[in-house]
Amino acid sequence: MMGVRHFLSLEDLSLDELWAVLDLAASVKATPEKYAHALNGKSLAMIFQKKSTRTRVSFETGMFQLGGMALFLGASDIQIGRGESIADTARVISRYNSMIMARVYGHDVLEEMAAHATVPVINGLSDALHPCQVLADLQTMRERFGDIRGLTFTYVGDGNNMAHSLMMGCARAGVNVRIAAPSGYEPDIAYVAAARSHGQVTGAEVVVMNDPVAAVADSHVVYTDVWASMGQEEEQAQRLIDFEGFQVNGRLMSAANNDAIFMHCLPAHRGEEVSAEVCDGPQSVIFDEAENRLHAQKALMLFLLGAG
Ligand code: CP
Ligand code: NVA
Repeated sequence: MMGVRHFLSLEDLSLDELWAVLDLAASVKATPEKYAHALNGKSLAMIFQKKSTRTRVSFETGMFQLGGMALFLGASDIQIGRGESIADTARVISRYNSMIMARVYGHDVLEEMAAHATVPVINGLSDALHPCQVLADLQTMRERFGDIRGLTFTYVGDGNNMAHSLMMGCARAGVNVRIAAPSGYEPDIAYVAAARSHGQVTGAEVVVMNDPVAAVADSHVVYTDVWASMGQEEEQAQRLIDFEGFQVNGRLMSAANNDAIFMHCLPAHRGEEVSAEVCDGPQSVIFDEAENRLHAQKALMLFLLGAG
């Protein structure tokens, strides 16, 4: 018997499993009625230390559409907020629910949860990684391009949780990755090394640079995210200065391929990391990405519970 499967990082899926989950996501999207009772009687506990629109609504709605139910647990409303340990919380919730999804600050909180939970733990975003978003983004790229292997994907902006998960997910899917970040805001070298080791298997190149214009040349996808993530609000003013020149606008998009798409995990700050003309323009697929959170996570939950 296989042990409990967690999804804290894209690394928790083998390459074959990643493609299988993405294929299942496409099937769930095309024929949702086929899966309407797949998780009858199952439940998902959702713990949030940070705010969320997409993650909360897509997981809760996704569980409902699969025949199960989800519980929203704000971290300050449950006993974690009064100091009950992560380990005991994970053990207790495992006695009631079929899965746990958590959005946290430190990634170690998720690791602690997974170490003590006896049901799958899903990363709904940590300071380090946001793998559920990348499942939806890979699904969106496949819808636009078909076979995505060999494409060039460029992320412009902060070397943050999105940059880390995108690098690993793209390299693993055989997509060349370029990250253009201001000096001092490059991604964590441990995740760059992990992405490069996936690239050695799939042939994808992973390059970190500081020049956004050079980075987007020949790119099929241009992606950005906020300059100050949740928890970094007090750095916002300094970051506005440090990220000057890194806005994805019409001028930068014109340096990419003519048929390049623009992607953003949302929420977006128009006028900061992306101009309104690009964010709301014809190359933008931001709302497909948001929609695909629903389908990709339904597929993920089916996979983790062995119901796909
Ligand atoms: N992209 C994303 O995770 O959005 P939320 O913060 O609204 O969940
Ligand atoms: N990097 C952003 C992603 C939000 C979905 C953050 O962590 O706030």
